[in-house]
Amino acid sequence: MSGIPSFSEANSAEMVAQRLLKAKAGPLPRFLATVVDHLHQIVRETRPSAADWRQAIAFLTEIGHASDDKRQEWVLLSDLLGVTALVEEINSRRPNGATPNTVRGPFYRSDAPRLALGADISLDGAGKSLTVTGRVTDLDGLPIAGATVETWQANAQGFYENQQPDLQPEFNLRGVFATDKEGRFHYRTVKPAGYGVPDDGPVGQMLRQLNYPLSRPAHIHFLIRADGFETLTTQVFESGDPHLSEDALFGVKPELVGDFKRTGEDWSLDFAFVLAMARKGSRAA
Ligand code: BEZ
Ligand code: FE
Repeated sequence: MSGIPSFSEANSAEMVAQRLLKAKAGPLPRFLATVVDHLHQIVRETRPSAADWRQAIAFLTEIGHASDDKRQEWVLLSDLLGVTALVEEINSRRPNGATPNTVRGPFYRSDAPRLALGADISLDGAGKSLTVTGRVTDLDGLPIAGATVETWQANAQGFYENQQPDLQPEFNLRGVFATDKEGRFHYRTVKPAGYGVPDDGPVGQMLRQLNYPLSRPAHIHFLIRADGFETLTTQVFESGDPHLSEDALFGVKPELVGDFKRTGEDWSLDFAFVLAMARKGSRAA
């Protein structure tokens, strides 16, 4: 019968888009039409058999089954395929010279204790001693006094306190500091180890079979807030870590590599953080 559009390889995405946009106007139908366009292009390009497509759907089903309120296998997929880092990149453009943002990650806690400068955040003392000193400035190098510096890190085995509630003291390797009038802060801790992202779920298992990198180089997280400045969420990576060039989460940038220095048995790290002025209408993270 004429007048009935015929679904074909050439017009498939267009037919779906027309339905979506006819049904309802607005950003969601437009977004879905873009997703459909790309999805159909992938299918045209890779030409899966019906059995291949069933296998792909079975994999996505497994990801759903492996996700609950404690474990988010979809987020892991997004992280490992670089999508999380891309979204971060698009949303956190900073002027030249400002310290780059990276993802906050799942191990942050907003209730870490406020501590005096010089405090030791290692509550079990397990690991090689590390002294961290830092300075927070604006783009002109002027100190930002009274900035809030939250830090959190993995222990010497590569585990965060909230991953091992029975093995590590609560709030181990976490603390909140305020910069002094020269914009400086310092504290004691232990040297963190790098760690592997979870590889016991469908995403990790699939990527491990492909020898895809699943390791994170050793790093320390910082979340720095100051009135009138963009909030900085970032990570400082250990210069000597063997996985520096293939971080599983694509978080390493040259500006975020810190010089972890060894003196005898002790380690030190000194790092300069540069905050950008808050833009009109920008959100504090
Ligand atoms: C982290 O560095 O803690 C992290 C960030 C994103 C996903 C998983 C872990
Ligand atoms: Fe981390």
